[in-house]
Formats: sequence, structure tokens, C-alpha cells
Amino acid sequence: MLYDGCMGALLDIRDLRIRFGSVEAVRGINLHIGEDEVLGLVGESGSGKSATALAILGLLGPAAQVAGRILWHSNSAAGGLEASQGGRAEDGATDLLRQRAEGLRRLRGREIAMIFQEPMTALNPVMSIGHQVAEAASAHSPSWTGREAKRKAIAALEAVAIPDAARRYGDYPHQFSGGQRQRILIAMALINRPRLLIADEPTTALDVTVQAQVLELLRDLQRQHGLAMLFISHDLAVVGKIAGRVAVMRNGQVVETGSTAQLLTAPQHAYTRSLLAAVPTLSTDRSRPLATLE
Ligand SMILES: Nc1ncnc2c1ncn2[C@@H]1O[C@H](COP(=O)(O)OP(=O)(O)OP(=O)(O)O)[C@@H](O)[C@H]1O
Ligand SMILES: [Mg+2]
Repeated sequence: MLYDGCMGALLDIRDLRIRFGSVEAVRGINLHIGEDEVLGLVGESGSGKSATALAILGLLGPAAQVAGRILWHSNSAAGGLEASQGGRAEDGATDLLRQRAEGLRRLRGREIAMIFQEPMTALNPVMSIGHQVAEAASAHSPSWTGREAKRKAIAALEAVAIPDAARRYGDYPHQFSGGQRQRILIAMALINRPRLLIADEPTTALDVTVQAQVLELLRDLQRQHGLAMLFISHDLAVVGKIAGRVAVMRNGQVVETGSTAQLLTAPQHAYTRSLLAAVPTLSTDRSRPLATLE
């Protein structure tokens, strides 16, 4: 597939390759995400979705061999990232694969935030949720007093519709429902107003009703804050509810990219058709037989 251009992209991934020993997890993918855009990334288990997300944040770990470029075009990057050491690429963009650990640490949470699949493992079970949200708030604003961070944390919890946020500030993760825990993680991710949110299977662990509520919340916050988002799921139907454009990954490669409407109604690749067939969506015409993989 030809590289489809990326004028005005906030994030621009070029020919990304990730290898774990003999396993080629990602085999030369190109992706871009525009300002305010939600890009869906779908594909079966093991197709390389999480590896791609972790590469953006420099969280792959020492076992991974990574090649290619991940260009970050945020104007505010100059304050937090190194221009030296080959970190500054063309057009004033920053190549995240060539940043030192310190630069990436400053970027994480402040400019690019991530929500992980499992809310219980992402939260510290022995720390109150208020404390955890306040800690996320002050991580990038160390000059704040405890009281300022607390006020900001309560406002963030209210923004994700945690009932009685001020009263429940001292409660622990196990005292909340799965959907509420995921909302708390969303509050933590967005508290520093990042430009890009990476959501890796953010609703997979939730039941269908709660999944719909969390998706709606993410969609509202995305519009409200003009946030760019990389929304990862194995479920094309879920991605279709939030993403404007979708990339389909299989076996470390992007096999199809297109607008969500185009992919849901006229998928070009047999693999995309099989993903659609596996999960009937609201837009699936139920009077017709399901598509099959040729
Ligand atoms: N730290 C690691 N060490 C070794 N291999 C890894 C590591 N992380 C991922 N892999 C391998 O890379 C490939 C891609 O994994 P990845 O986690 O990106 O898949 P995924 O698309 O996110 O799947 P899922 O939908 O199950 O989350 C898999 O073959 C996986 O086994
Ligand atoms: Mg994954």
C-alpha cells in the first residue's frame, strides 16, 4: 500500500519495525493521526497493536529492537524534548524513537497519555483513588500545593462522572465498580490535558452496557478537549463507534486503512471483511448473510 500522506499530522509513524528476538511483531507500518482526530487500530490478538502503542511512548523495554521513525509534531514539544542527539527531525518535528529516557518521561502524561486495558492492574490497590489522581496531576506541576492538586483531582473525577467525587476521594480502587475504575483512569490520563490519548482496549474488560457508557464519555471528552486519539481494539464494531478513520492490522502489517464508514460498509480486504463478519454491528444489514473470509 502506498503511504497516504500526512500534512498537518500530530503523530506520524513511518516504516515502524519492532522485533522481539526472532518474533517480528511489527513489520514496517505507516500511520498518522491528525490534530483532533480519532484513529482506530484494529486487528486480532498478537497483530502488533500494543507493541505499536508502547513504541510511541518508549515503553517497549530492552528486549525490543525498534526501527523506523515516530514523528511528533506538537509545537509545545520544544519545551520538553531534546533537539540534540538527532532527536529533532525535519519540519521541527521530534523523532520519539530517538529521544533519551528523560525527554520521554516528560512527554508521557503531559503531551501523550495512555489508558491500559486492565483498570485494576493500572491502579495501585493500596492507595486511595484521590491520592492517585492528585499524584498524576502534580507529576508535571511539582510547584502545586497538596490542596491545589486535590482540588484539581476532584474536578477531574467529577468530569468523568464519579458520583460524590469529593466524598469518595479517600476510597480505594476495590471500592469502585469496573466502569468507575476505568473512568478514574481516564481522569488520570487527561488531567494534564495531553494532546494525544492512546487508549489500548479501554473497554474490553467491561460489560456491554458499561462499555457503551465509557465509550460515550471518551467521545465527549475527545470533542470537548479537541484531543487526538489512538483507539485500539480487536473489535471493529467498538472502534466504529468512536473513530473517524481506521487502520486494520494483521500479523504486524497494516492491511487496510480508510474512513470508518468506508471500512464498515465496503471493506476492501478479505481480513477486514472477516473481522466485520465476526462481530455484527448496528450498521450490519441483518437481512443479508454475514460475509465470509475468501
Ligand atoms: N515483551 C515482549 N517480548 C516478547 N514478545 C513480545 C513482547 N511483547 C509483544 N510480543 C509479541 O509481539 C507480538 C505482538 O504483540 P502485541 O502485544 O503488540 O499484540 P496485540 O495486537 O496488542 O494483541 P492483543 O489484542 O492480544 O492485545 C506477539 O507475537 C507477542 O507475542
Ligand atoms: Mg494488545
